[in-house]
Amino acid sequence: MKPTIFVTRLLAQPAMDRLAEVFEMTVNPEDRVLTKQELLDGVKGKDALLCLLTDTIDKEVVQANLDLKVISNHAVGYNNVDVAAAREAGIPVCITPGVLTETSADCAFGLILATARRMAEGDRLTRAGEFHGWGPLMMLGGDVYGKTLGIVGMGRIGQAVARRATGFDMKILYTARSSKPDLIGEQVELKELLEESDFVSLHCPLSPETRHLIGKEELAVMKKTAYLINTARGPVVDEQALVEALRNEQIAGAGLDVYEEEPALAPGLAELDNTVLLPHIASATIETRTEMAMLAANNAIAVIEGRQPAAMVT
Ligand code: DGY
Repeated sequence: MKPTIFVTRLLAQPAMDRLAEVFEMTVNPEDRVLTKQELLDGVKGKDALLCLLTDTIDKEVVQANLDLKVISNHAVGYNNVDVAAAREAGIPVCITPGVLTETSADCAFGLILATARRMAEGDRLTRAGEFHGWGPLMMLGGDVYGKTLGIVGMGRIGQAVARRATGFDMKILYTARSSKPDLIGEQVELKELLEESDFVSLHCPLSPETRHLIGKEELAVMKKTAYLINTARGPVVDEQALVEALRNEQIAGAGLDVYEEEPALAPGLAELDNTVLLPHIASATIETRTEMAMLAANNAIAVIEGRQPAAMVT
């Protein structure tokens, strides 16, 4: 008899095919996030769970099936899983680092360019038939080339963004939990980074320590000409404080891929023209989503077959 797996949403087909070789599969047939009750029901009696960053795997879900052998999360971030509860239950939690690094960095750098150069706003204006010809003072943005980029969280993705920034001759400042040799740029404290940077790009995981890392006080020390970029997790930023700072032109703009109450936006955010707002697509390429799904599948398979998975949360 094959082991059983509950897959909370349809994934890239090669991963579904790979899972089917090993598991008896139960898959959410609809392209939507499951309710808590559906998660609780789905996980019961299964050997493995393959879940997404949109699934809240809290203590109740973990305890709904203490015979579960693995929780494989299709994401590098794992703030959606109560890892302590899983650890207590002896259930390993696997994630998908590495495979989405460059794709996510492309998106963060794209947001830097799009925000500073007002690309989304320009697109809206052109489509609305309001482009009436070139003008010397029309839609002026900020330069990216040669400016200072502050990277908050110099992990894999932060470092990949730094590599891209060198091609734009940017000065790089960064914060990191521990000091790391051989990285591009200069390690500084968060306050100095916020004061000095023309672009602040967030790449730290969401944890109790980083929730609202960027709030009213932090936004107040940023330059009036600076831009905030968030492709990490929404709650790292106090979104209502950000709306106020953007509204009052305390900073020049923001490029966001993630939101505090995702998929809802803070009141007023969507009305602000000095923002570029993406629907959490930093890792959304065909290649990368296929690799993420394959890694998530292979992690689950490895645990079930008694092998060490490629990426397990310690
Ligand atoms: C992750 O893996 O944590 C990303 O947010 C997915 O896009």
